[in-house]
Amino acid sequence: MLDSVRIISGVPSRLRRQAALLYYQAFREKVDALELKPGSVRQAVRLYTASLDLDSALAAVKGHHLAGLAGLTTRTSRFLQVPWPLLVQEFGFWRALSRRMNLAIEHMHKPDPDEQHLDTLAVRASCRNRGIGTTLLREVIARAHADGFGKVTLAVVNTNSAARRLYEREGFRAVRTRHYGWLTSRGGFTSVTKMQRDLAVQAPGL
Ligand SMILES: CC(C)(COP(=O)(O)OP(=O)(O)OC[C@H]1O[C@@H](n2cnc3c(N)ncnc32)[C@H](O)[C@@H]1OP(=O)(O)O)[C@@H](O)C(=O)NCCC(=O)NCCS
Repeated sequence: MLDSVRIISGVPSRLRRQAALLYYQAFREKVDALELKPGSVRQAVRLYTASLDLDSALAAVKGHHLAGLAGLTTRTSRFLQVPWPLLVQEFGFWRALSRRMNLAIEHMHKPDPDEQHLDTLAVRASCRNRGIGTTLLREVIARAHADGFGKVTLAVVNTNSAARRLYEREGFRAVRTRHYGWLTSRGGFTSVTKMQRDLAVQAPGL
C-alpha cells in the first residue's frame, strides 16, 4: 500500500474537492456540532473547497486519489480560512456571525515565528492503519526541520486516542490541556491537549 502512495508538497488543484471532502469527513462530528454547522454535505464541501489553502499542505496521493492530507499553519500562512463574504453568502449575516466566532475560537491559534502548527492530519477512512498518517507526520517533521522551524505543534481532543498514540510514538509531548466540559461535548470531546515536538538544532559541522 505505502509503495503506491506519494507524499507531495501542496495538494494538486485537481484534488481540491477531494481535499475538502476528506477534511469534512474526518472532522464531521466537530464541524457539524460546533463549527461551521453546514446544512448538507454539499454545502460543507463547497465551503471548504473555497477555504483550504492547498499550498499549505502535504498530500498523500495514490493514483488519482487523495489518500491523506496534512494541513499546515505558520505565522504567515494558514491552511484553513473561511472567507467572511462566503460565510454571509451561504448563511446570511447573523448565522454567519456565530459561525465566524466558532471558527475563530477553533482556529485562532497564532503560531510563534519558529513554530510549524499541524492544523490537520487526515487519512481517508478506507486507507487508514497502513502507515499513511505516520508517513505524513514524519514528512511534516522532516520538512519543518529542514525549513529551520524550532518546533511542530498540534492539538488533539481527549477522545481521539488513535491520533494521540500516533503523536506520542513520533515524539510529541503534551504541553497543555484545556478543559471545556459540556461546552464541546456535542462535538465529541471535552478537552483539547496541545502537543509539541521540539526539533533539535544541529551543531555546525555535525
Ligand atoms: C489519526 C489518523 C490521521 C491516523 O492515520 P493512519 O493512516 O491510520 O495512521 P497509521 O496507519 O500511520 O497508524 C495507525 C495505526 O495503524 C498501525 N499501522 C501502520 N501501518 C500498518 C500496517 N502496514 N499494518 C498494520 N497496522 C499498521 C499503526 O501502528 C497504528 O497503530 P495504533 O493504532 O495501535 O497506534 C486517521 O485515523 C484519521 O484521519 N483520523 C480522522 C482525523 C483525525 O482524527 N485526525 C487527527 C486530528 S488530531
